Amino acid sequence: MSQDPQSISSNWAHTPPVNASKVEADYDFLADDYDDLIKEWGYDGPRIGAELAKQFFSLEDSILDAGCGSGLTGESLYNRGFTNITGVDISQKLLDKATQRQVYRELVKANLQQQLSWPDNTFDATYSIGVLTYFPDNFPLLEFCRVTRPGGWVLFSQRVDLFEEGGHGRAYNSMESQGLWQQKYISQPTAYLPGHSEYAQNILVYYLAYQVTK
Ligand SMILES: C[S@@+](CC[C@H](N)C(=O)[O-])C[C@H]1O[C@@H](n2cnc3c(N)ncnc32)[C@H](O)[C@@H]1O
Repeated sequence: MSQDPQSISSNWAHTPPVNASKVEADYDFLADDYDDLIKEWGYDGPRIGAELAKQFFSLEDSILDAGCGSGLTGESLYNRGFTNITGVDISQKLLDKATQRQVYRELVKANLQQQLSWPDNTFDATYSIGVLTYFPDNFPLLEFCRVTRPGGWVLFSQRVDLFEEGGHGRAYNSMESQGLWQQKYISQPTAYLPGHSEYAQNILVYYLAYQVTK
């Protein structure tokens, strides 16, 4: 694959990347330019997600920002009054950027496709914006439910194509049938990177909020 941000991101629009080692390498490569690139592409996930968090979370909640990247999501939560935020990501270079923002209590490097190190019910809420594209199945969401206390929240974005045709929506419904969580909110389809030629109106996302039931 040619190593330039436009072609990496364009490939991702057509073929969501689910190989965690490759995703890690690509994000390490993009890290220095990440904030500028997604600004140029019109990314608004951190603002939209944080506005929803204000509707569903309490300000004192402990929040796991899963796939925190360079910390734009944590910063947006912090600017709205949330201060108990832990970040986790697979890219050390992005974690280094997130550290500089000084909005996280703790930052951890981990692969969200594997079992998380936190015990059951550690957090009041798990928050994952722009990250679900990189998961082939719902294992990470089972982990999000496990580390989030009953009554707490799992709030995330997911691509509409992966939700509808990719089978992810079915998997979330099945988690609901199993009594793991209940869907409390689903947004209208929303442009993800409106300023990126390959995404524009082609790749839309839902923002979803589920309440954990066990
Ligand atoms: C589009 S960025 C979103 C970052 C941040 N949430 C935001 O909205 O700015 C996707 C992030 O997911 C992380 N990621 C992807 N797959 C991962 C995995 N298996 N484990 C941990 N982090 C992962 C990437 O390293 C990257 O930081």
